[in-house]
Amino acid sequence: AEKWVLSVTAQTPTNIAVIKYWGKRDEELILPINDSISVTLDPGHLCTTTSVAVSPAFTHDRIWLNGKEVSLSGGRFQNVLREIRSRATDYEDEKRGIKITKKDWEKLCVHIVSYNNFPTAAGLASSAAGLACLVFSLAKLMNVKEDHSQLSAIARQGSGSACRSLYGGFVKWIMGKEDNGSDSIAVQLADEKHWDDLVIIIAVVSSKQKETSSTSGMRDTVETSELIKHRAKEVVPKRIKEMEAAIAKCDFPSFARLACADSNQIISCVEKLNRHEGTPQVAYTFDAGPNAVLISKDRKTAALLLQRLLFQFPPQSDADLNSYVIGDKTILK
Ligand code: PMV
Repeated sequence: AEKWVLSVTAQTPTNIAVIKYWGKRDEELILPINDSISVTLDPGHLCTTTSVAVSPAFTHDRIWLNGKEVSLSGGRFQNVLREIRSRATDYEDEKRGIKITKKDWEKLCVHIVSYNNFPTAAGLASSAAGLACLVFSLAKLMNVKEDHSQLSAIARQGSGSACRSLYGGFVKWIMGKEDNGSDSIAVQLADEKHWDDLVIIIAVVSSKQKETSSTSGMRDTVETSELIKHRAKEVVPKRIKEMEAAIAKCDFPSFARLACADSNQIISCVEKLNRHEGTPQVAYTFDAGPNAVLISKDRKTAALLLQRLLFQFPPQSDADLNSYVIGDKTILK
């Protein structure tokens, strides 16, 4: 067999929803029952690094996550691979004598190696960074010409929240109306330079894998809860509008009120601090696990908050020393 290997490496940050996606109207295509808004973190802290490679020497598609080979047979991986392969275009590297046609891409097998620099499946949207990075790196490798929003619709089929990680800054996932999902895409509301004061603190209280997957959690709520229908129809649309306005105006009190209201748990520390100061200084929000994401109005408040957190919840072990990860919302400058 020919000896060449062609590879691409990409890095994608995770995103934290401030108005959450919760509930699907189509499980196969991953179409949500409401719009959502998130902040993409800078890649220095919580991100996935993925390398993808093809070679005529590879005999089947394989994937290693955090150093361990896992099965690629899951529907979500397969959907992503199929969608990307179907959009592959001709590639030529004259120097190395590599020529790959659209037809060749369908037969070439791919090897994928992916690392998260933060706890996987602990409710910190690891799948968002992971699937977005997979789609982005495969698209680069296979010379896919689609733009970010079209790629976001493919990432969405890997993990819903992943579609929002294709952009930096503040991002909205529009739920869309079409049954085929073509208009269920992510758009950027404001780029990473907007609202530069915000500081995001991730309090990793547990790196254990969460007990309930987002998928089964959502399925249970959609099947059993009347409230979730009310949330999707009446509550979220209004919140989305208000959140967009708060982001546009860098209005922290409204941003904090909306983010906290949309997250279903309470941190007394944050509430106490906000009460003490009179107006909100910090917002908290949780994804699907116990780990808190705190968004602070500015660096000074972040330092104060961190002091209190370290005092009240000191790291329990060496492994936890990294417990408080501070990030800007920015992506690569
Ligand atoms: O994309 P999933 O299936 O991992 O679901 C993510 C759900 C939340 O993180 C809880 C909310 C969100 O909008 O990211």
